[in-house]
Amino acid sequence: MFSFTLNGKRRHVRAVPPNTTLLQYLRDRQLCGTKEGCAEGDCGACTVTVWDQDGWRAINACLVPLPSLAGRHLLTVEGLADGEQLHPAQQAMVDTLGSQCGYCTPGFVMSMFEACHRSDLDAEWKKDDQLCGNLCRCTGYRPIREALDRVAGSQPPDDLVGELQPRTRLDYRVGSERFFRPASLTELWPLLSAFPDAALVAGATDLGLRITQRGERFQTLISLEALPLDTLERVDTADRHGWRIGATLPLSELEAADPIPVLTRMLRYFASRQIKHRATLGGNLVNASPIGDSAPVLMALGARVVLRSEQGARELPLEDFFVAYRQTALAPGEILEAVWVPDPPPHTKLGAYKVSRRREMDISAVSAGFFVRLSQGRVEEVRLCYGGMAGTTARALGAEQALLNQPWSEDTLERAIAALDFAPFSDHRGSAWYRNKVAENLLRGFYLETQGSDCPLLADGHVGTVQP
Ligand code: FES
Ligand code: FES
Repeated sequence: MFSFTLNGKRRHVRAVPPNTTLLQYLRDRQLCGTKEGCAEGDCGACTVTVWDQDGWRAINACLVPLPSLAGRHLLTVEGLADGEQLHPAQQAMVDTLGSQCGYCTPGFVMSMFEACHRSDLDAEWKKDDQLCGNLCRCTGYRPIREALDRVAGSQPPDDLVGELQPRTRLDYRVGSERFFRPASLTELWPLLSAFPDAALVAGATDLGLRITQRGERFQTLISLEALPLDTLERVDTADRHGWRIGATLPLSELEAADPIPVLTRMLRYFASRQIKHRATLGGNLVNASPIGDSAPVLMALGARVVLRSEQGARELPLEDFFVAYRQTALAPGEILEAVWVPDPPPHTKLGAYKVSRRREMDISAVSAGFFVRLSQGRVEEVRLCYGGMAGTTARALGAEQALLNQPWSEDTLERAIAALDFAPFSDHRGSAWYRNKVAENLLRGFYLETQGSDCPLLADGHVGTVQP
């Protein structure tokens, strides 16, 4: 048995199988304001909020295994109004005529509710981002966006306050399905030995899809969410300067902390706010997708992964972590503990790019992370890393060779482009020809950015280059 707080009331959960999503649980209990649109984290119709460090966070209920909520405070659209009095986020949607069929409306309202209590929505693009995980098929976005303008940052005195309970150990079993949440590494190791086939889970934004889209039932889930791996640490020692990012740090926290601007640039286009509140950097790397968005930029930065087992820790360059399509170098009994990202040396130019069919909420056709260190105009060190061009995130080694020790010039760049030797696949996101073209043009765009030129194809108001 476990319990959590739902709209201010304690709920005890027994006999609900661990593979049940929060959305299924809510709707089975007649809390049908939370809708199912896509069941894959794309539409936001299922948006609810959960209390975190200092406020409510919008998340997608369709992707969260219910036991992940153990001990937490949850608010759904049913908990917003005060009797007959609508919450300001609801009233704003009424006043701006932001609702027609109403299917998307509770999800938008919950995203706006989070926005009411944010104090950092000081730019239009931030407000856009607040709603980019919610889709509407009928109203059109102008009135909805106007509703957000009316309430964003308004801090209404709504008395809707949660509490952050320390995440504690959980051992929850129903039939043959088990959900464990160890509270320390000491508790984790015996579980990994006893259940070698267990699926490890943190934010579940990828694993949740396997439940809702493929109908998989995991016999044993081990949640890493109560382990002290959600850290962000600045390291300055005699031989190391950089950032150590814990594997389970949510991407929204990493984005807000902005320790590495070129990584933050990629995180902006990574996914919706709801997804980034749950997804973790470790999860994005461990699933080893060739189109994972964080790997190219981290690889370009020379990141290393810290792997830990009961026997101790080891470190690997990120490029050695991906051994084949969706396969990593993790050994049985080992977890990804952290990602080490060294500071770029002086005279480095960095870029991070993502190309997808639409800018927000889409999976990359091609993504890229570029690192070039120059000395007196010549390339002394280079890493050109691509996603979507091979079975794993991969370096363009031939192109790198063509650049090494050469002047950083348009001529050299074209020779490097001629040496790009990927054989990408064709799929609905892009043909092999298209992917190769994009890979070439991203490198050209990067060059232009490093020269301080505007590159219309890449212009988005964010500067991807770093010139210490
Ligand atoms: Fe579409 Fe959850 S139902 S995001
Ligand atoms: Fe109909 Fe948005 S009002 S889907």
